[in-house]
Amino acid sequence: MSLRQLPGLIDVHVHLRDPGATHKENFSTGTAAALAGGVVAVLDMPNNTPPTVNEQRLSEKTQIASQKACCDFGFYLGATEDNAGHGAILSHGVAGLKIYMGQTYGPLKMADLAALIAHFRSWPADRPIAVHAEGLAVAGAITLARLYDKQLHICHVSRQVEIELIRKAKESWSATRLTCEVTPHHLFLTQADVARLGTLAHVKPPLGTEEDRAALWGNLDTVDVVASDHAPHTLAEKEGPEPPPGVPGLETTLPLLLTAVAEGRLSWERLVKLTSENPARIFGLKQEGRTYIEVDLDARYVLDSSSLKTKCGWTPFEGMTVRGRLVKVYLRGVMAYADGRVLVRPGFGRALF
Ligand code: NCD
Ligand code: ZN
Ligand code: ZN
Ligand code: ZN
Repeated sequence: MSLRQLPGLIDVHVHLRDPGATHKENFSTGTAAALAGGVVAVLDMPNNTPPTVNEQRLSEKTQIASQKACCDFGFYLGATEDNAGHGAILSHGVAGLKIYMGQTYGPLKMADLAALIAHFRSWPADRPIAVHAEGLAVAGAITLARLYDKQLHICHVSRQVEIELIRKAKESWSATRLTCEVTPHHLFLTQADVARLGTLAHVKPPLGTEEDRAALWGNLDTVDVVASDHAPHTLAEKEGPEPPPGVPGLETTLPLLLTAVAEGRLSWERLVKLTSENPARIFGLKQEGRTYIEVDLDARYVLDSSSLKTKCGWTPFEGMTVRGRLVKVYLRGVMAYADGRVLVRPGFGRALF
């Protein structure tokens, strides 16, 4: 056994489905899955039913998470066509504003340019605006962030042309005002995997080509964050007539990235930057010295859905052999996870904002 310590992961993009779709996941199963993936803090997205778009919905979610969360947590406020003015008032209590500039799972989609501009105008300059933007919308989001001088975080970048545009924009505008994340599924899977995985591989943005995947790896110095976009749906839903987009990821991010380190495709320094240092910097979080994880670099195992803590109970990475296993998680000095078991009670997790 060869043990190594790392800072706990901060996953800035998860969907824990609570309230509204707790048959897919809830705050205790989702944060147990987080700890089992070495994740000590999650930032939860607002596309719940009903969506998290006002003070009442935020306080409901805070109450739920305070009772159920095993790891630390923060929330995004969802942008709607009429909450721009109020959004700025609520900014102090959230991780950031989330704008859906395209259709995905859930009811939030910003289709009105005036409303979009109102959000970019009124949101405070020191809190991130995170966007679901694909293709042309990436260019639109960068333009607005630059015009209104806001902090823009582009979620789940998946295409070569997008990462190259972001590289260019960072060079000519700002590498700190503009940040972006990629997901493990876009780093490790492509359209070629759809033949094998069927609708389980259905995700927004869709899996890319081999060229897209290679471009994400080739531009890793432009990528600020690896986030799981943990988006659980039940197997019955995924295999049903209208499969919703999304794959779970909280428990597979770390072993996949550790495997890339073992194979010499990723350095330790960059792994720590992508999963902990940069998320903390972008969202203004303190990194606590007594919060860290231990991994066994020698362990080799096969990813297997039967050992997952996520309520949805499946993974698109089933059957993959990985190198590097999470052994322990310490959260604020407390051993929160060890050898496959969560050791803290729901309610141990704290609100970050
Ligand atoms: C996400 C979900 O299911 O909430 N689905 C997905 O395919 N990524 C929504 C999103 O992040 O776009
Ligand atoms: Zn308030
Ligand atoms: Zn999205
Ligand atoms: Zn998402």
